[in-house]
This record gives sequence, C-alpha cells and structure tokens, in this order.
Amino acid sequence: MLLRGTISYTLPTSTLRLRTTYTYPQNVAVSAQSTSSKFSISDQDLESRGFVLRRTVEDLNLDHLNSVFVAVGFPKRDPVKIRVALKNTDALLWVEYSKTQRPVAFARATGDGVFNAIIWDVVVDPSFQGIGLGKAVMERLVEELVGKGICNIALYSEPRVLGFYRPLGFVADPDGIRGMVYSRKQKYNK
Ligand SMILES: CC(C)(COP(=O)(O)OP(=O)(O)OC[C@H]1O[C@@H](n2cnc3c(N)ncnc32)[C@H](O)[C@@H]1OP(=O)(O)O)[C@@H](O)C(=O)NCCC(=O)NCCS
Repeated sequence: MLLRGTISYTLPTSTLRLRTTYTYPQNVAVSAQSTSSKFSISDQDLESRGFVLRRTVEDLNLDHLNSVFVAVGFPKRDPVKIRVALKNTDALLWVEYSKTQRPVAFARATGDGVFNAIIWDVVVDPSFQGIGLGKAVMERLVEELVGKGICNIALYSEPRVLGFYRPLGFVADPDGIRGMVYSRKQKYNK
C-alpha cells in the first residue's frame, strides 16, 4: 500500500509506526550535562555514569542478554536462534554496565534497509529501568534508521508501554491504518 508517498504495509493493531517527520524529544529525561547532544542524554554522560553504548554483537554475551529478556518477562530463547536473529538484524544497540560488563539495555531493528524497519526486543534490566536507558537506546536506534533514509519504522507495543513510545514519535494506527498479523505461537524455549 502506498501511503502519502511512502511505502507502507499492514501491521498488527497494536503496532506503532513512526511519523515520517521525526522530531527528537526536547525534554531531558536524565539531567544531561552536555547541551550539545541531540539526545536526551549524551554518550559522554552515559559513560560518566558507567554505561557504555555498543552497536555490534561482539562482546555481547547472549546468556546475559537472555537473562535480561527473562527478567522483564520475555520468554527465554535458544541462544543459537538468538545468534541467527542478531546476524539477520540490520541495526542493534545495547548498553553495557561497566561495573559488571553485562548488558542492561538492548534494542534491535530488522528491515529492508531502505523503506521499512521494525524494532524488536526493547528491554532494560529491571534494576536499571527508569533512569533513561530505554529512551537513550531508542533515540539512537531511530536516529540510525532515519539516517539511512528509512521512512517507516514500526514496532509492537504492549498496551502498558504505549506511553513510553509516544514521546519518541510513534503513533498507533496512523491515519486509521490498522495492522494485521499472522502469528503462530512459538515454543520459545526450544
Ligand atoms: C519499556 C522500557 C524499555 C522502558 O525503559 P526505561 O529505561 O525504563 O525507560 P526510560 O527511563 O528511558 O524512560 C523514558 C521516558 O519514558 C517514560 N516511561 C518509561 N516506561 C514507561 C511506560 N511503561 N509507560 C509510560 N511511560 C514510560 C519515563 O517516565 C520517561 O519519561 P520522561 O522522559 O518524561 O522522563 C523498560 O521499562 C522495559 O524494559 N520494560 C519491560 C520490557 C518491555 O515491556 N519492553 C517493551 C516491549 S513492547
């Protein structure tokens, strides 16, 4: 379906899609000392708090990542399948806590590289939630995708998280477009 000059396709009802004209939130979630950052918190400020941003799977311990998934209530997945999924992922971002060298925040996106992307697995370790890490990861992932010229960025949102995504520029059912999904329940622990 062609929607206002952008390529669009149907997604599940609860799917949110990013407005093509993305504007970064102006409000600052975590008091960022650097005013030059286009993000709510700069890379430097994150580092000064012991958080290192990473954009590759190198050094990412998949068992530790799985632990974060489980801690937030996601099903535990086969690390071999996670590795395949990450290999087929176009963009990913995770935050390492220097003290433990473990991942504490993560998000990734798949897509066709030019028109569309879907964001998956947005998680923040419960011990580190509410301090701006989720926003920090999402802002950077979206910026990377938009920088590649991708106009449609979609994601699935649980109802309780809609309020997290909205200020990041995501809207539900844009222009009344409703998503549809064919889904077979998977046994994730295999
Ligand atoms: C949702 C999640 C990724 C948010 O990460 P976080 O690091 O706790 O969020 P942040 O601290 O970056 O919050 C950024 C902003 O979003 C708001 N926010 C966070 N979670 C929210 C929620 N569930 N509903 C509404 N607003 C929320 C914060 O209040 C903050 O607002 P502010 O910028 O005005 O101060 C995290 O809570 C999480 O991993 N949840 C469990 C897994 C999950 O549900 N993932 C999403 C799958 S759809």
